[in-house]
Formats: sequence, structure tokens, C-alpha cells
Amino acid sequence: MADAAVLDTPDYNYDVVRRFTLMTLFWGVLGMGMGAVIAAQLVWPELNLGLPWTTFGRLRPVHTNLVIFAFGGGALFATSFYVVQRTCKVRLISDGLANFVFWGWQAAIVAMLVSYPLGITSSKEYAEMEWPIALWVTLVWVAYAYLFIGTIARRQTQHIYVANWFYGAFIVVTAMVHVINHIAIPVTLFKSYSAYSGATDAMIQWWYGHSVVGFILSVGFLGMMYYFVPKQAERPVYSYRLSIVHFWAIISLYIWAGPHHLHYTALPDWAQSLGMAMSVVLLAPSWGGMINGMMTLSGAWHKLRTDPILRFLVVSLAFYGMSTFEGPMMAIKTVNALSHYTDWTIGHVHAGALGWVAMISIGTLYHMIPKLWGRERMHSVGLINAHFWLATIGTVLYIASMWVNGITQGLMWRAINEDGTLTYSFVEALEASHPGYVVRLIGGGTFVLGMLLMAYNAWRTVRAADRRPIGSAVMRVA
Ligand code: HEM
Ligand code: HEM
Repeated sequence: MADAAVLDTPDYNYDVVRRFTLMTLFWGVLGMGMGAVIAAQLVWPELNLGLPWTTFGRLRPVHTNLVIFAFGGGALFATSFYVVQRTCKVRLISDGLANFVFWGWQAAIVAMLVSYPLGITSSKEYAEMEWPIALWVTLVWVAYAYLFIGTIARRQTQHIYVANWFYGAFIVVTAMVHVINHIAIPVTLFKSYSAYSGATDAMIQWWYGHSVVGFILSVGFLGMMYYFVPKQAERPVYSYRLSIVHFWAIISLYIWAGPHHLHYTALPDWAQSLGMAMSVVLLAPSWGGMINGMMTLSGAWHKLRTDPILRFLVVSLAFYGMSTFEGPMMAIKTVNALSHYTDWTIGHVHAGALGWVAMISIGTLYHMIPKLWGRERMHSVGLINAHFWLATIGTVLYIASMWVNGITQGLMWRAINEDGTLTYSFVEALEASHPGYVVRLIGGGTFVLGMLLMAYNAWRTVRAADRRPIGSAVMRVA
């Protein structure tokens, strides 16, 4: 029968996984579409439309929060619930709580989506949500932590599979940094002031900001990697021992790297140097993890010729390796003196965000969707192939244009005439950046096109699915 490769364990709660999967796709298209809109605003500033709600400054956090929390977060909710049940051989401990986490998270995203264009914001990057939303997110997150850790506690297996360690660290550390960074004094329902001030406020903000990069965009997705790369390659993890070393090294180092966002600021110099040193050391566990993922393909490399899903997963690891090499370099103060404030940072961000986070999520969703809806494979493998090339070309165009822009801006800003005056005005550097913004828009648009193909492919797969009520099917896993 066409749908032999479906779930072998009907008593698990796959319903919440399905719902998060669909919402990940939905928010992914919307969030990246919003990325394309703000990229277009940087090419044609008239697209700000002269309205406060649609200015770049207000739509930018809509983009970042949608892609990080709604798309990235959704992928992590979906996969962590899928992985924890399958590796612990037990159903999530509470259906009610799973429903609460799903609806609570969607409500938080909608609240962000509405409040940012209205200008209701704390103004802290990636922590723009005002205090009522931050409180609500804390509640949902505690429910998530209880559900995930409680399910592990009831496991029917002896071991806790390594992917769960990574998901667990992502959940616990995100809770910690979210709560500490959002402590604020409310003055009205929509306005609060940070409990910290000056350099302390900046340090806590970037301790949080880098932990979002480290624990959501890296450690969470590494959990995904440890389950789905071996599954798709049909090979065991290359080295289980390396995965344990990788885990302890990465979680103990990431938390120290925040000060590299505050080089040459009022932050004490020793703290900047500590952040720089820790960031450079971070290269080792990052590459250890990347190599562990890549080498899992030993003996299965030939599958890359025919399996576009595996290609997504492997290319995501290559981009992960690239961005975690670039990051430590940019953390070196002398390099940061050139890169900071320029589009180089934006290029680095999207090497990680598109190349790593989005690509591994896309590969993983293509792996999961047919299984969740009882199909042998996605509706069209050809469309997955097309998506792979659109995503790869889009990412390369995006990051290459931002590198060129970044280095151009950095060099133009620091060029000095013999008499000590600046060689170029800011506007001249901006004009030189314009072609790069056009190329970035083309790259981003190409990436979004790939996402639309994926949405169509997923819709056809789901619609065609011979979907049985949970708990009624005879199932086998591919
Ligand atoms: C089609 C895809 C995308 C496009 C066209 C796009 C475009 C943009 C643009 C134009 C900016 C503002 C840059 C600036 O301020 O100069 C931006 C910022 C950002 N984007 Fe994207 N983006 C895309 C996908 C993503 C994804 C998938 C993620 C995360 C998973 C992401 C994360 C971010 C972050 C974190 C920033 C803020 C960077 C910073 O402050 O340094 N983007 N994006
Ligand atoms: C070893 C790993 C990494 C290190 C040491 C590192 C280091 C850095 C440095 C030095 C900056 C520039 C700070 C500045 O000048 O303002 C930066 C920015 C950034 N990186 Fe990384 N990076 C790493 C990996 C990643 C990965 C895998 C992602 C995933 C998406 C990522 C996302 C970001 C974001 C979003 C920013 C912009 C923050 C902002 O200013 O809004 N980084 N990183």
C-alpha cells in the first residue's frame, strides 16, 4: 500500500507534532516573506509607505521574531515532541498541556505580530516583546519544559538519547536567559523599563542575545541533527562518545561569548577580552559537532546523488561549519573593528539562519511530513530537488552580497585622508552598498520561492493522505 511508511507507534501524541509542523511552514513563509519585504525597503526606501506601522524599524523585529520564534521555534517544538516520544518509547505525559503549549505559543506569536508594527516594544533585540507577552511566554515555556522533561522521566528506555540532551539544554537555558533579561518595571500595560541600566543592561541583553543564537539557533537544532541525520542517512551517529564531549563543551562555552557583541563599548575591557577568548575556543566544539554529523554519512555518501532531503541536511551542516568558523573570527577585536555595524554581520547571521537553521529544518520537515500523514514520500521529489537548488542559490547570493557590502562599508568608513578627515561620507558608502542590496533581495526572493514550493508540496502530501484517526492504524517505520 502507498502509505506503508507511516507511524509504527499510534499511541504517541502526533497530533501536536502535526499542528506545529503546519504552523512552522506557515510562519516560515510569512517570516521569510517579511524578510524579503524589508530587504526590498532597503533597495527602495519608498516602500516604507510613509506610514509609521510599515517602516523598516517596525517591520524588522516582525521578521526576526517570526523567523526565530515562530519558524525556528515551531520546528523545535515539532521535532522535540516527535523525537522525545520515539526515543523514550512513551507518549507525552499530558495531552492537555501539549495543547496549551501549542495554542499558547501561537497566541504569543500573534501578540508580537500585532504589537511591533504598533510600536509597542521594549527595544531590546530579539526581546522586543513587552512585559505581558514576556510573562505569557514564560508560562508557556514552563509548561513546555515540564512536558518535555516529564516525558523523559517516564521513559521506557535506559538511555536518554543524545538528541534529548541537546533539546533539554535548549529548553532550560532559554528559560533562564528569557526570565533574567525580561525583568522590567511596568509603567502601563504596554510600556515597561528594564530593571537594569547602562552597561549592565547591555551586558545582560547580549548575554541573552547570544544565548538565543547559542541555545535556540545552535544547540536546539543540533538536537535535530542528532536524530534526523542518522535517520535519513540510515546510519548510526558517527561517534556517540564525540556527541557527549560535544554536548558538555558547547553548553559550558556558549554562555560566556555574549560580550563579543559589545566590543569597543563601555563594557569593561576584561569582559570584552573574555568574550573574545571564549568565542574563539567555541570553534572547537562547533566543528566537533559538525564533523560528527558529516561523518555519520560515512559509507552513505552515494545517497546524496538521489536523496534531496539528505542533501538539505548535509549542506546545512556545511553552512553550520562555515558560520561557526566566521563567528569566532569576527569575535576577534581587530576583525570586529572592521565588521561591526556593517552588512558583514548580516551576512554572517544569514549564513547561520538560512544555511544552517532553515536548511536543517526544511530537510527535517520533508523527512517528517510523509510519516506524520501516512504517506510513503512527499507528493513530489522533483519539487524537493528544485527547492534544494533555490535554497542553496538564494543563500549563496544573500551571504556573498553581504560580505562584499560589509567589507566595502568597513573599509570606506575607516578611510582617512592625510589631513585626518574622512575620505568618504556615510552616504557614499550607502550608495556603494546599493547593488549588494539588490542582489540580497534576489537571493532572499529565491529562497522564499523555494519555501512556496515546499508549502505546495506539503499541502498536496497532506491532502492526499489517507489519514486515519490516531491510534487506529497498523504502522511501520521506514
Ligand atoms: C528569505 C529569507 C530572508 C530574507 C530576505 C531576510 C532578510 C533580512 C533583512 C533585510 C534583514 C535586515 C538587515 C539589516 O538590518 O540591514 C534581516 C535581519 C535578520 N534576519 Fe533575516 N532574512 C531572511 C531569512 C531569515 C531567517 C530564516 C532567519 C532566522 C532563522 C533570519 C534571521 C534574521 C536576524 C536574526 C536578523 C537580524 C540581524 C542583526 O541584527 O544583525 N532571517 N533579514
Ligand atoms: C562559534 C560560533 C559563533 C560565534 C563565535 C559567533 C560570533 C559572532 C560575532 C562576533 C558576531 C558579531 C557581533 C557584532 O559585531 O555585533 C555575531 C553576530 C551574530 N551571530 Fe554569530 N557567531 C557564531 C555562530 C552563529 C550561528 C550558528 C548563528 C545562527 C544563526 C549566529 C547568529 C548570529 C546573529 C543573529 C548575530 C547578530 C546579532 C545582532 O547583532 O543582532 N551566529 N556572531
